[in-house]
Amino acid sequence: MTEVSMEINGRQVSGSVAPRTHLGDFLREEIRLTGTNLSCEHGVCGACTVLVDGQPVRSCITFAVACEGKRITTIEGYDDDPIMARLREAFHQKHALQCGYCTPGMLTTARDIVLRLPQADEARVRIELSGNICRCTGYQGITAAVMSVLTSLNERPDAAVEALRGAAAEGRFTAPEAAGQEAATFTRFAAAQPSAPAAPAAPATAEPTGAAAPGKGSSIQGGFDVPFAAAQVWAFMADLPAVASCLPGAVIEEQDGDRVKGKIAVKFGPMAAAFNGAAQLERNDEQMSAVLRGAGQDSLSQSRAKGDVGYRVMAVGENAARVEVDLLYSLQGPLAQFSRSGLVQDFVRRMIADFGRNVVLRLQHPADEGQPFQQAQFNPFKMFLGVLWERVKRFFSGKAGG
Ligand code: FES
Ligand code: FES
Repeated sequence: MTEVSMEINGRQVSGSVAPRTHLGDFLREEIRLTGTNLSCEHGVCGACTVLVDGQPVRSCITFAVACEGKRITTIEGYDDDPIMARLREAFHQKHALQCGYCTPGMLTTARDIVLRLPQADEARVRIELSGNICRCTGYQGITAAVMSVLTSLNERPDAAVEALRGAAAEGRFTAPEAAGQEAATFTRFAAAQPSAPAAPAAPATAEPTGAAAPGKGSSIQGGFDVPFAAAQVWAFMADLPAVASCLPGAVIEEQDGDRVKGKIAVKFGPMAAAFNGAAQLERNDEQMSAVLRGAGQDSLSQSRAKGDVGYRVMAVGENAARVEVDLLYSLQGPLAQFSRSGLVQDFVRRMIADFGRNVVLRLQHPADEGQPFQQAQFNPFKMFLGVLWERVKRFFSGKAGG
């Protein structure tokens, strides 16, 4: 068992919990806050969505021990929240719930939409809600309810909501806090059977441990063209900080020769993860090829990722080169279910294309070297839409795959 303490709905709780207990079970069975519903327990349906430090998170793929020191808001914690008060009323008016099973997660996501996207239209609201599945298929009413709250706030702004939006824009915590609650130590639910001692949580992998084993990972190929001589492209691509500066969402925190430590944030529709880890570049100057071997861990879901990004520069003309990219990766933990999905594979190919655009930009503006690099605009929402649109086109042309 591991000692854990966190703030839940404005109240400090602490106690011991098995390292493998996910936040959803912890909230329901230890804290007895049963408003958080669990359904798929695979991070897909969104029924279990709660706020962790103000961000919507799937509690079924978030370990309770990963929430040490964090602030959790469940559906029971919104009594005085001005946005949730409007959403409650709108869900009632627009018949936005039937069995209500999805409703706690749906309301949590809806609140996040109202907070972040005051100008969202119906299409955007539908995309934002796409990570929450309603088994009763009541999306029409849910969308109408969110739209009615957005419209009424645009027509008659509410100072309390504006204050929350301002805090959200500055990255400050925006969940309601219950004032004056006393700290509590939770006691285990008497009906729960004592669980077998669980293995301690795996430590964050700080060093790359070799290639993702063939047959155990997913493989994605892609590539991009660069309007520069191959030798010039290779000189750039063999430089680790330069390569990392072109990877959307990547930040290098430490570098020692060809080894780096850092993080990469990935957001795709309702999915978000931030992997901390290490990578090492192995170069073959003769063949103008390299492999970046990396491993990391997402702090909230504790999912681990290991991957090899292989790339090779080929001359296709005097001032034209092609960079072939071969990504072999494996995911372990709650996020593993996403690793082979066709959407994620399309998403990675788009990331490779964005990476290529950044490489071209960097080569076109070498004078910026050493300066913080303004990457080609990375817009996860636009990318999500683009990937979906490609899928729809392929489906109607009879070539749908994955
Ligand atoms: S229970 Fe379905 S996403 Fe968590
Ligand atoms: S109202 Fe029944 S699952 Fe959404």
